[in-house]
Amino acid sequence: MKLIGLTREEVKEAFKNGRFTIAVYGMGKMGLPLAAVFADHGANVIGVDINEKVVEMINRGENHVKEEPGLDELVRRNVEAGRLKATTDGVWAAKQADVMVILVPTLTDERGNLKLGPVYDVAEKISGGLERGDIVITEATMPPGTTESLVPILEKSGLKLGEFGLAHAPERTMTGTAIRDITGQYPKIVGASDEKTLEAVIGIYETINRKGVIPMSSIKAAEAVKVFEGVYRDVNIALANELAMWCEEHGLDALEVFQAANTQPYCHLHMPGAGVGGHCIPVYPWFVINLAKKTNPRLTKTAREINDSMPHHVVELTVKALNEVGRPVKGSNILVLGLTFRGGVREFMKAAAKPIIKELKEWGANVYAYDPLCTREDAERFGAEWKEDFRDIDAIVITADHKEFRELDLEKLSKEVRTRVIVDGRNVLDPAEAEEKGFVYLRVGRVDFGQP
Ligand SMILES: NC(=O)c1ccc[n+]([C@@H]2O[C@H](COP(=O)([O-])OP(=O)(O)OC[C@H]3O[C@@H](n4cnc5c(N)ncnc54)[C@H](O)[C@@H]3O)[C@@H](O)[C@H]2O)c1
Repeated sequence: MKLIGLTREEVKEAFKNGRFTIAVYGMGKMGLPLAAVFADHGANVIGVDINEKVVEMINRGENHVKEEPGLDELVRRNVEAGRLKATTDGVWAAKQADVMVILVPTLTDERGNLKLGPVYDVAEKISGGLERGDIVITEATMPPGTTESLVPILEKSGLKLGEFGLAHAPERTMTGTAIRDITGQYPKIVGASDEKTLEAVIGIYETINRKGVIPMSSIKAAEAVKVFEGVYRDVNIALANELAMWCEEHGLDALEVFQAANTQPYCHLHMPGAGVGGHCIPVYPWFVINLAKKTNPRLTKTAREINDSMPHHVVELTVKALNEVGRPVKGSNILVLGLTFRGGVREFMKAAAKPIIKELKEWGANVYAYDPLCTREDAERFGAEWKEDFRDIDAIVITADHKEFRELDLEKLSKEVRTRVIVDGRNVLDPAEAEEKGFVYLRVGRVDFGQP
């Protein structure tokens, strides 16, 4: 059933009654939860992926995205009910589907230079099965203007934009909370090529999202929303880092000051820390920087510089802490806790641990690493030796906020280590408790605390 020309209420009715088919391209951490949620609300859903193993698993009713709570059951239930199936054949899927959602990786290097290969590949496949009245939606995060750059590829179908609809509806979520976020943590942002497409796409997302939809005046504006969310986070984390380093100079505890300041409703000081990693926040500012022709996004650039300098600052804190206990860094045994870029997720893009390990080794330290989500091989790839205990350790440097690190038994730890030094790059431990157990405890924004 084609949706262009229907009111949002008619689309919702058709959705619940399974009267149209949605193909979701990319069955990864974002695509599979979305496909399963679509199916759970009644649509016929075809998941498309180039990875045969992923396709086979889904068709057996199995979920491969283990970080996502609730997804096992959602996939099983909807495959069993016949509402969700998967294929590697993207052209076939496009022929069956009335709505095609693109949620494949938009790969970038650390400076936001895009490799849009997977997106263009999917657009080619869709053009092989595109029909009059179909709607193509991009959900993957893209530099403003990217969705519309797909039009010439889609028009290889012989149809002109207007005969099919195009929209952008950015994925506003992250690994581990996708189902919660897709179904109603935040409103969905939608921009479309024309009013009728917009109306139909609003109907689609209002069906699955309790918080509703914010319609935008253009596709490009919808793309900018998601990119700006990332820039906002990056700039504000940089501000927190800058003020935290100022607090270090002035013998203040930055978090104490931030928490008090944030009780005023216009102040939202973020968390300082060991650096900003992942595929999103440190990358999206580069979309803005790279696309600026007349404007000079100085603040955005400076924020990137500050956040990229934080791993080096954590090394400086480690050197300072070891000096305080009279141990030279050269020859010290340092244990880095956390190889992933953040807690609970096995992703390594711009993880702070990597430059920290490298620099500590340049100082001549023996660097060890542990991460509950990682392996010995991961540690070796980062240049550190895997270590699962604290014996003979002179300094612990925390670089990811895994639950296991928040729950560290400091009493036990204080007896196992050789030297009691903790540099907490993720603010996961209670400073008072660490100091009570005899540790020299430093974190970004808290050194020489309380000393004149
Ligand atoms: N992971 C996040 O936290 C997050 C958050 C917000 C937005 N996003 C956006 O979602 C997009 C997808 O991210 P993800 O985390 O799901 O990625 P992912 O790596 O977990 O999954 C991507 C899937 O796409 C498949 N794929 C690659 N090329 C393909 C092709 N040509 N045709 C069909 N399938 C193909 C891969 O085999 C893989 O299964 C990203 O580009 C990003 O813009 C991700």
